Amino acid sequence: MAEHENYTSYLAEEYVIQEEPFYLPVGDEIELFEVAYSQNLPVLLKGPTGTGKTRFVEYMSYRKSIPLMTIACHEDLTASDLVGRYLLEGDETRWVDGPLARAVKAGAICYLDEIVEARKDTTVLIHPLTDHRRILPIDKRGEVLEAHDGFQLVVSYNPGYQSALKDLKHSTRQRFMALELTHPPADLEARIVQHESGVSEEMSVALAKLGEKARNLKDHGLQEGVGTRLLIYAGKLIARGIAPRRACQVAVTWALTDDQQVQRSVDEVVNSIFE
Ligand SMILES: Nc1ncnc2c1ncn2[C@@H]1O[C@H](COP(=O)(O)OP(=O)(O)O)[C@@H](O)[C@H]1O
Ligand SMILES: [Mg+2]
Repeated sequence: MAEHENYTSYLAEEYVIQEEPFYLPVGDEIELFEVAYSQNLPVLLKGPTGTGKTRFVEYMSYRKSIPLMTIACHEDLTASDLVGRYLLEGDETRWVDGPLARAVKAGAICYLDEIVEARKDTTVLIHPLTDHRRILPIDKRGEVLEAHDGFQLVVSYNPGYQSALKDLKHSTRQRFMALELTHPPADLEARIVQHESGVSEEMSVALAKLGEKARNLKDHGLQEGVGTRLLIYAGKLIARGIAPRRACQVAVTWALTDDQQVQRSVDEVVNSIFE
């Protein structure tokens, strides 16, 4: 154990969030996360893009003073990328822990963003970390790491991208407590947009209204409703002098879809708000 005595210093300081991230709770997610953390329950964050999943994890990491290790999953991400590998140095090889192994040892929150993007072998890897065993086997070293008490596994998943190929298997998803982060109600969303973009209160209310109305277009061929992130982008442009309609066109309409007919529907909503 001696070599791991100082678990908390095992993760560089950059993983400790120093400043309180701005996060407005939409429901009881903070309370639920706290209980999940205290009971070692892994957490699955579900929700469309731009609804505050990443911000929420950052906030919880700050609130609980636990370092945060974020890993953006992609199709080339291998088990070794997560666990670690031997590196050649001169004519010696040296083992280097991957981010998951470091988080397990340090008792950090490990946030696997967009877990469905990762290769199958990586999802299998996290299974033993999610049950009572809380272990991470490192096959290449014939070693088994026991997770530090503070270790918390969080994964995110966007159900909107569902396809037969890219769905979360039940054997994986049924290992998590699922928190659904949906688009915030208009009054909250306006406050978020105002805080993050610097627009006036009036403008933030208008942008939140745009969000709400544009989401109602979902059945008109929009795969996913506009996320708060895009409304913030529009707000940032407006706060720096771009005309609201133009700002919404580039930050919302064109970002949302390539379908010209759907673009026209979104533009109509924009025009009805910014006359
Ligand atoms: N509840 C919220 N409180 C504060 N900011 C939020 C909230 N929801 C969304 N945001 C803002 O929207 C942006 C996008 O959120 P993010 O966490 O990146 O979304 P996701 O990870 O779900 O795609 C954030 O940078 C933040 O500015
Ligand atoms: Mg994110």
